[in-house]
Amino acid sequence: MANPDSGSTPSKPFSQACENNKAPILAVLQRVFDHSSRVLELGSGTGQHACYFAPALPHLEWQPSELSENIAGLCQWVDACNSPNLLPPLLLDVSGIEWPSASHDAVFSANTAHILSWSDAQLMIKRVAEKLPTGGIFALYGPFKYDGLYTSQSNHEFDCWLKQQHPERGIRDFEQVVAVAKSRGLMLYEDNPMPANNRLLVWVKQPMGLADDRDQDNP
Ligand SMILES: C[S@@+](CC[C@H](N)C(=O)[O-])C[C@H]1O[C@@H](n2cnc3c(N)ncnc32)[C@H](O)[C@@H]1O
Repeated sequence: MANPDSGSTPSKPFSQACENNKAPILAVLQRVFDHSSRVLELGSGTGQHACYFAPALPHLEWQPSELSENIAGLCQWVDACNSPNLLPPLLLDVSGIEWPSASHDAVFSANTAHILSWSDAQLMIKRVAEKLPTGGIFALYGPFKYDGLYTSQSNHEFDCWLKQQHPERGIRDFEQVVAVAKSRGLMLYEDNPMPANNRLLVWVKQPMGLADDRDQDNP
């Protein structure tokens, strides 16, 4: 549906889930990004998170990013938000090699690990770990399985639906994600329960040399 205020300008993309989860996520980010100054967001989607978090975290700069097909919609939100600490979105495919060269001391991503293939999710974690300085923070929001079990019937149904969309999608195992992160020098710091059976996992980058050099499966 076209935006009635702007003639031919298409209406902004919208996610109800973002509206529902943004306040509980922010409550954690306000604490764990307390000493962060430059946050890179991966797979920003519509941009609703970026537009809610950036003005509420005025001590830091928020850098949203997305795949090319979703950049236009993301820019609509970012332009409308007009927050001085919210940067113009970057094109970034987390599975690619071209990551921004700018330094970031924190990374946030919501609902990407189950959309990416497991191989690309591992690559994302690897690149995040390479990017962060010692003490840098990685916060990853989404649903996870524990001990191979779903935390709710709705997550089980969601996982079946994801796999119907694409066989490589799916809710990831908490233990496997934590093991991959650890092998890259990211130490799990918090596992925060979130509404609707989601979690907000928080890692801290360890000093160089503390990574467990075992490579998980591939990348
Ligand atoms: C389920 S949406 C989540 C969007 C937003 N973070 C949220 O929580 O509403 C997953 C997002 O990941 C993005 N995405 C998928 N594959 C990606 C990749 N290889 N690199 C970067 N982003 C990717 C999609 O474009 C999509 O916007």
